[in-house]
Amino acid sequence: MDRFEWKAEYSVDDATLDAQHQEMIAIINELADQLRRPDVSATAARDVFDRLAAYVTSHFSYEEGRIADAGYPLESIAAHRAEHNKILRQVQDFEQLFESGDVAVLQQLMPFLYGEWLILHICGTDKDYVPYITGAH
Ligand SMILES: [Fe+2]
Repeated sequence: MDRFEWKAEYSVDDATLDAQHQEMIAIINELADQLRRPDVSATAARDVFDRLAAYVTSHFSYEEGRIADAGYPLESIAAHRAEHNKILRQVQDFEQLFESGDVAVLQQLMPFLYGEWLILHICGTDKDYVPYITGAH
């Protein structure tokens, strides 16, 4: 898995949230491109890692506020937030691994983000709030 590609099936029926998910995919692809370079620059990779962590933090926080405003049940918000926190922590752990000189981090990072964030989270957990933010529940 070299790069992620946005697919219509990832949509949560909201232009802002879809755009944020697409931006995350763009940053993840940029990070993958950096880490794949044989002459990867620690500074350049750290910069993209930092941007990814910052974007993930602000997107998760926006999404949590958005679903709370839409009346998504509190216990579901708590479970959703716990998944967000786990994903963010893992991204930070991968950044630390990279900082400690583990250049093979890409081989774990991409499958993690694909499985835990794109497939399980966006296609599962995020889809669950769609009826609330579209007013269809
Ligand atoms: Fe989410």
